[in-house]
Amino acid sequence: MWGHYLCDLFLVIVLRQPGEPAVENGLIPYLGCALQFGANPLQFLRSRQKKYGHIFTCKIAGRYIHFLCDPFSYHSVIRHGRHLDWRKFHFATSVKAFGHDSFDPRHGHTTENLHQTFLKTLQGEALPSLIETMMGHLQDVMLKSDTLSPSKDHWQVDGIFAFCYKVMFESGYLTLFGKELGEDKCQARQAAQKALVLNALENFKEFDKIFPALVAGLPIHVFKSAYSARENLAKTMHAEHLSKRENVSDLISMRMILNDSLSTFNDISKARTHVALLWASQANTLPATFWSLFYMIRSPDAMKAAHKEVQKILGDSGKTVDPSDPSLNLTRDQLDNMPVLDSIIKEAMRLSSASMNVRVAKEDFLLHLDNQEAYHIRKDDVIALYPPLLHYDPEIYEDPYEYKFDRFLDNKGQEKTTFYRSGRRLRYFYMPFGSGVTKCPGRFFAVYEIKQFLTLVLSYFDMELLDLGINAPPLDQSRAGLGILQPTYDIDFRYKLKSSQ
Ligand code: HEM
Repeated sequence: MWGHYLCDLFLVIVLRQPGEPAVENGLIPYLGCALQFGANPLQFLRSRQKKYGHIFTCKIAGRYIHFLCDPFSYHSVIRHGRHLDWRKFHFATSVKAFGHDSFDPRHGHTTENLHQTFLKTLQGEALPSLIETMMGHLQDVMLKSDTLSPSKDHWQVDGIFAFCYKVMFESGYLTLFGKELGEDKCQARQAAQKALVLNALENFKEFDKIFPALVAGLPIHVFKSAYSARENLAKTMHAEHLSKRENVSDLISMRMILNDSLSTFNDISKARTHVALLWASQANTLPATFWSLFYMIRSPDAMKAAHKEVQKILGDSGKTVDPSDPSLNLTRDQLDNMPVLDSIIKEAMRLSSASMNVRVAKEDFLLHLDNQEAYHIRKDDVIALYPPLLHYDPEIYEDPYEYKFDRFLDNKGQEKTTFYRSGRRLRYFYMPFGSGVTKCPGRFFAVYEIKQFLTLVLSYFDMELLDLGINAPPLDQSRAGLGILQPTYDIDFRYKLKSSQ
């Protein structure tokens, strides 16, 4: 997929010059290594790392990409050096996929500092209200609406991904975008509200399917149904609709104000910026929730430890679990104090994340590596970090293909933060959320919402896999480079309300 990812970038013919990384041109003109890379990115990069060492250059679809594979040298790329640009690539990608005008202040459509908006509305003081709202919606969706309709008397069978998708999408959507009818109890209006969310879910799925192709530079008009899906989502996010909604998050309300006050975007462009946020908030969270729940249910030890942690947290705060009055809540401090769930989620993401970290050289410069070597990098070349190289490194993570729920716990049962390679402590060993200035601003909320989800399913439901010994489904590599990979197929489980609390 990453071959396509870059195919809209222009062709530059270069031969390796002294002092530049070794170049792998690949077998096919223009496409270069794209096909080999796309088939299995990790295997391809590993084999080239073996051949060339810490850094090498691949020609992929006409563009020269320097892959830096030495984690001790990541720092040279991650610290926001004056030679490297992150904005060009990120802003251009968003424009291609969502069709809004550019957020790059250099293009003159807006003066908003988007990065600051995200930090203000997704982190720090913004978190308690996001957490509280999410917890309310999760319980409504699981127990009060007809999304699941669980019973005490009989098991419901569902796919784990399907289950996570509907529960997390609806709860996350309502948390960011609020409810059109507030808390109106009228049945018909509640049904209309539900239909709106279900439509959004279907449109989101349709659009998300072709997301990798859009990032690769294919025009959305090629994909008729995905185009209508994206535009249908945007229609519901015009200011006239959003302004009727209650409990809209700070993120969306602040973006509405800043779109109006600092940009020259037209109404469609403004609405599409909200679609971009819907995508950012859901596209990785949904598969990350799947992998966390799947691996947790499959491991009896993980289930036991998670249950114990959840019961302790709820017990200490005197909360009773009552599905007929689902009103559990967890403070940020309590969520921060759940190292077992934290490790369960981290380990699930270690195995499923494949987000490429990309920077573009603003000028010719010398890249210094940890081993004292230095390499010439040319203006407009891309430097990429591919964290699965770390996540699957047997020197860092013993038996790297195995899921070990307590891998991120130390011997006191607290978060483990020390990982080593060749006897040296690593600063970068876990990177599902990207790095440096482009690190995901929603990462704290993302982990809190998955923890809330796991806490609730553990509290309210008995859950079992239909096939207890089932293998993990393979990762869908078509999205490699873009974030958390989806499973290639769903896994069935069954659940019912716990009979005694
Ligand atoms: C497990 C869940 C998530 C993962 C793994 C994840 C991962 C990432 C990664 C890797 C990036 C940076 C991409 C790059 O380097 O270009 C990113 C960006 C972003 N994420 Fe997340 N994310 C998650 C959940 C969320 C949530 C829940 C939100 C919001 C509620 C969110 C909001 C954003 C935004 C706004 C950006 C763009 C930041 C910018 O361009 O400055 N993410 N995410």
